[in-house]
Amino acid sequence: MSKIILGIESSCDDTSAAVIRDGILLSNIIANQKVHEKYGGVVPELASRAHQQNIIPVVNEAINISGINKHELSAIAFTRGPGLLGSLLVGISFAKGLALSLGIPVIEVNHLHAHVLAHFIQRNNNKKSVPEYPFLCLLVSGGNTQIILVRSWNNMEIQGQTIDDAAGEAFDKCAKVMGLPYPGGPYIDKLASQGNPSIFNLARPNVSGYDYSFSGLKTSFLYLLRDNLNTNQNFINDNLPDLCASLQSAIVETLMRKLRKVSEDLGIKEIAVAGGVSANSGIRLAFEEHAEKYRWKIHIPPPDLTTDNAAMVAMNGYLKYISEDFAQLNSTPFSRVEI
Ligand code: KG4
Repeated sequence: MSKIILGIESSCDDTSAAVIRDGILLSNIIANQKVHEKYGGVVPELASRAHQQNIIPVVNEAINISGINKHELSAIAFTRGPGLLGSLLVGISFAKGLALSLGIPVIEVNHLHAHVLAHFIQRNNNKKSVPEYPFLCLLVSGGNTQIILVRSWNNMEIQGQTIDDAAGEAFDKCAKVMGLPYPGGPYIDKLASQGNPSIFNLARPNVSGYDYSFSGLKTSFLYLLRDNLNTNQNFINDNLPDLCASLQSAIVETLMRKLRKVSEDLGIKEIAVAGGVSANSGIRLAFEEHAEKYRWKIHIPPPDLTTDNAAMVAMNGYLKYISEDFAQLNSTPFSRVEI
C-alpha cells in the first residue's frame, strides 16, 4: 500500500506544507512572510502570528493540489527544530491536532537533516540520480553553515561549522549596511553578476580545522564602507555591483576552501549542497568548477528545494515512516540542536 506523508514546516518565516507519496513529491506549498521586510530581519513574534494565519490555507492547498484525500494520509511529519520556538509551536500543534483527528501517527523531523534529505525527493517516476552514501553536504542557510558527513539517511555527523555567523547571515547583514532589502542574499547575488570580484580585497577568515567564521569578513566589509564613505558619500551607490561581487567571492571562496579540505582528508568526492544560500550562483558555479577540477560528483538541489520547504520534511518523514520511527503526542519543539 502507498505511504502518503503530509509534511509541515514552520521553523522560521516560511509556512509550508507538502505531500509525498512513496518518495514522490505531489505538492509543496510555501507562504513567505513579507511582514519582516521592513524590519531588516525576522521578528519572532510576528513570525508565529503569520504562521497562525497561514497554516490552514497552506495545508489545505497542499492537500488539494496533491489530488489525495486527507483520509488517505499515512502520517504527518513536522519540523521539531531547530528554529524559532513560537513558530515551531504553530506547526507542531497543528500537526498533532490533525493527526489526532485522522487517527494517524506523527513523525518529528530535524530541520537540518531534512535540508540534506531534500536531495532524495523524486518529482515523478523517472528517477533522478541521488547522492550515494557516504557523501559530504555543505549546508548553508540563514542560520547554519555546516559541513556534514552523511553516512546514511539517519546517520549524519558534523565535520565543521561556523563558530559565529552563518554564511546567509553574512550576506544579509552586509546587504543591510548597503541599504538593500531583506533578505539581502538574492540581491547581492544578482548585483554581483554585473560586478568585478577583484576590485575590493576583503579578509578571507581562516579558523583552525574544518570550522568557519564569517564575523571577521563582515567587520572588514563594514570598515571598507566606513573608510570610503568618509571621502565619498556616494561610495556604495557608485560601487554597488563591485562591492557585491567582491563580497560574494570572499564568502564562496571561504566556503569552498574548507569543503575541499574535508573532501581531501576523508577521500570523499560525492559532494552535495543544501539550504537557502545554495541558490547562490557563485556557489553553484564553484561546485561545477570543482566537479571538473577535482572530479567531484556534485548534487545541487532545484531552487524550490533550497529554501525552507515542507517537501524535505515530508521526505524525511517518509523515510522515518518506513522505519516505524514515530513521535509521541507530547513531543515539544527545540530551538537549538546538533545534527
Ligand atoms: O534555508 P533558508 O531559506 O532559511 C533560513 O535559514 O532562514 O535560507 C535563507 C538564507 C537567507 O540568508 C538568504 O539571504 C539566503 O538564504 N539566500 C541567498 C540566496 N538565496 C537565498 N544567499 C545568497 N544568494 C542567493 N541567491
